[in-house]
Amino acid sequence: MKIINPYLPEIAIVEGVRNLTQNTKLFTLKFQDTDKQRKFSFIPGQFVEVSLFGFGEVPIGISSDPENKKNFQICVRESGSVTNAICRLNIGDKVGVRGPYGNGFPLKLLSNKDIVITTGGTGISPLRSLIYPLIKYRNKFKKIYFLYGAKTPSDLLFRDEFKIWEKYINICITVDQADPNWTGELGLVSDLCRLIEIDANKSIAIMVGPPVMYKAMYAELTNLGISPRNIYVSLERRMKCGFGKCQHCTLGTKYVCKDGPTFRLDEIIKIPGAI
Ligand SMILES: Cc1cc2nc3c(=O)[nH]c(=O)nc-3n(C[C@H](O)[C@H](O)[C@H](O)COP(=O)(O)OP(=O)(O)OC[C@H]3O[C@@H](n4cnc5c(N)ncnc54)[C@H](O)[C@@H]3O)c2cc1C
Ligand code: FES
Repeated sequence: MKIINPYLPEIAIVEGVRNLTQNTKLFTLKFQDTDKQRKFSFIPGQFVEVSLFGFGEVPIGISSDPENKKNFQICVRESGSVTNAICRLNIGDKVGVRGPYGNGFPLKLLSNKDIVITTGGTGISPLRSLIYPLIKYRNKFKKIYFLYGAKTPSDLLFRDEFKIWEKYINICITVDQADPNWTGELGLVSDLCRLIEIDANKSIAIMVGPPVMYKAMYAELTNLGISPRNIYVSLERRMKCGFGKCQHCTLGTKYVCKDGPTFRLDEIIKIPGAI
C-alpha cells in the first residue's frame, strides 16, 4: 500500500502576480502536476498551506472561482517573514501548496435566503471565491448585501471587480479615512447595517475580518433580528498542520483548521477569546 505523507506540499508555479495595494498581491498559481491541478477542488472559505523553501509555511484563503480548474488564486498581504517572501515572488517561481483545508462557508444553507456578507481587510479575499457562485447562480438566492470596510480608499481590494459584482449584489463600501476623490460612506463597516432591508428570519450573515468587526457586527445583526444561529464567522489562529493533528489552533474543544475556519456564532460566542 502506498503511504501518502499528508505534510508533503505539491509544487505550484506562479502564473500571474497582480498588485492590489502597496502591500497586498493576488497570485495565480497552477500545480506543476497537471493531474493534481485538474483534480484540485475547494469550497469557498477553505484555505491552503503555502510554503516557501527557507522561509516556512502559512495558511492562506483561496480567492478564486471554485469552478475554475485551470489554476487558482490567493491574495497575500505582507505581514511577516513568510508572507513578505511570498510577495517577492515573480511569474515562473515555485511554491509548495498543501490542502485545501477547513470547512468553508455554508453554501447549501444560502439557497432562498437573504444574505448579508461583511468584511474588512484581507477578509475579502476568501469571500471573493463565494461571490463567483453567488453571481453565477444568482436566482437561487434572495437579496444579497456585501458590506466592506477599509482604512482608506487605496486599501480597498478588488475595487475593479465591484463594477461586475454590483450588477447582482448590493455593494456597500465604507472607509475610515477618505481621500479627496472619495464620495462614498465614511465610518465603521457596522454603520452600513442601516442600509440593509432583509427578512431577518430568512437571512444568513457571513463575516470575514478582524475580530473587532465581529463584535460590532454581532450587535447590529442581532438588532436587525438575525439569530446568532444564522451568523457565521471565519476565525484566524496560528496554524501548523492545517488538518487537526498538531493542536496549534485549538479553540476550546475545537480546532480552527479542521472544525473551522468558519463557525456558527452561537457555537463559539461563549468560548473565551473566540472573537
Ligand atoms: C485560515 C486562515 C486564512 C488566512 N488567509 C489569509 C489570506 O488570504 N491572506 C493573507 O495575507 N493572510 C491570511 N491569513 C493570515 C496569514 O496566515 C498570516 O498573516 C501569516 O501566517 C503570517 O505569517 P508570516 O510568517 O508572514 O508572519 P509572522 O512573522 O509569523 O507574523 C507576523 C505577524 O502576524 C501575526 N500572525 C501570524 N500568524 C497569524 C494568524 N494565523 N492570524 C493572525 N495573525 C497572525 C503574528 O502574531 C505577527 O504579529 C490567514 C490565516 C488563517 C489562519
Ligand atoms: S493547525 Fe494543527 S491542529 Fe489546527
